Amino acid sequence: MKNKYILALDQGTTSSRAALFDHAGNIISVAQKEFRQIYPQPGWVEHDPREIWATQAGVAAEAVTKMGLNGTSIAAIGITNQRETTIVWERATGQPIYNAIVWQDRRTADYCDQLKERGLEQTVRAKTGLPIDAYFSATKINWILNNVPGARAKAERGELAFGTVDSWLIWNFSQQGLHVTDVTNASRTMLFNIHMLDWDDELLAAMDIPRNMLPKVHASSEIVGMTKSTVFATPIPIAGIAGDQHAALFGQMCTEPGMAKNTYGTGCFLVMNTGKKPVESNNNLITTIAWKVGDEVNYALEGSIFIGGALVQWLRDGISMIKSAPEIEQLARSVQTSDGVYIVPAFAGLGAPHWNPRARGSVFGVTRGTTSAHIARASLEAIAFQSYDVLKAMEADLGVKIAELRVDGGAVTNNLLMQFQADLLGVDVVRPQIIETTALGAAYLAGLAVNYWSGIDEIKQQWKQDQRFSRTEDQDKINAHKKGWQRAVNASIAWADSE
Ligand code: G3P
Repeated sequence: MKNKYILALDQGTTSSRAALFDHAGNIISVAQKEFRQIYPQPGWVEHDPREIWATQAGVAAEAVTKMGLNGTSIAAIGITNQRETTIVWERATGQPIYNAIVWQDRRTADYCDQLKERGLEQTVRAKTGLPIDAYFSATKINWILNNVPGARAKAERGELAFGTVDSWLIWNFSQQGLHVTDVTNASRTMLFNIHMLDWDDELLAAMDIPRNMLPKVHASSEIVGMTKSTVFATPIPIAGIAGDQHAALFGQMCTEPGMAKNTYGTGCFLVMNTGKKPVESNNNLITTIAWKVGDEVNYALEGSIFIGGALVQWLRDGISMIKSAPEIEQLARSVQTSDGVYIVPAFAGLGAPHWNPRARGSVFGVTRGTTSAHIARASLEAIAFQSYDVLKAMEADLGVKIAELRVDGGAVTNNLLMQFQADLLGVDVVRPQIIETTALGAAYLAGLAVNYWSGIDEIKQQWKQDQRFSRTEDQDKINAHKKGWQRAVNASIAWADSE
């Protein structure tokens, strides 16, 4: 087994990645491909499911073949994915009946209001751990059934399948043989009872979704089936499935209650392990399933921030302020402060802890002296401020201060952002040596299921710190800065609500 590898597939919001890990938990090969973002109307975000599959299959093959390896060298595949994104396809043809509706898409905000008016909020939160929001899959499925001609009748005849991206990939990897998901992805649909670990008939009825569309739900670390000769000639066990944030929590080895991580990807997702019992949030966080390994379920509290690294991408692609994402650090460092400029990146509404689907991005405090450097610095600060708001909500829920925050994702190589984050939080921010923690977590989940690793204790030895950031900035300055941010967020929400 030790001369074999684990292949982790990380299907993210803007790119499909594949990484090959060895027994020591080192990455030996990576391949990545971006794919199209489709914006049919303001607030709508779609992907082409066929592009998701094609890019993911392509990078899986590339990561393996560029090392001169083939399927026989792979002990297992672990799949991790952008969560909530909703795909509905025809069972007979395997063809999607509509584009994937992406987690950022807000088209169902009005329908969510109707569900709230029907008094469903308490029921939904108690059963699923989630607030009613367009973010989750359920209202997106409902939209497809109501808006694609003939879809509802087909669904009622059992001819359609729904899946989050993990289900869609496995359906294709198994040549349409497996229609499955895991508890973490299921827990993001707003249809899954996180206490009973089953789809919930009351919620399915409330949102007019036939149960026969839904995938079979597995543990996160379990052989769910084998690949059929699609990408690799040899059948390979698919042995790990987890939503990307759950995989990252596992890859960071946040296995004890109270351990937390923040992933700086398209969005920022701050997740804390709360152990074997779900903790209900009084501060607008999400209760979610961290993972199920063996028979043991771990729960987590999560603060989902919709726009993190995507703000930097927007500066690059949307307004051409920088040529490459890493450039932002140098530009931001060229000024001492953001000079009173605040950016609230509510491009897809605001997630935790505000949950305002209609909020829009706003920039405050611009003067004649404002330059791109101030905008760059204010952008990095906005990413950190949003994470600060979520961490405060988490501490309020738990009544304790967290010990440290483990960080991962592309943006954590940005030392200015990390230092500012530590200054704001007053909690140490710790960057591990491997920042591809999402893929690593998926690899660990798959490897555990095929005994590639002996258990969590063996894996824990592999987590190693790269750098620790502690608070250095003057407390008064930080407090004044926090007040400025708060005013900007309030103004942004007030503007949206006054429409
Ligand atoms: O909930 C959405 C999240 O899973 C997306 O993650 O890494 O694609 O930004 P990412």
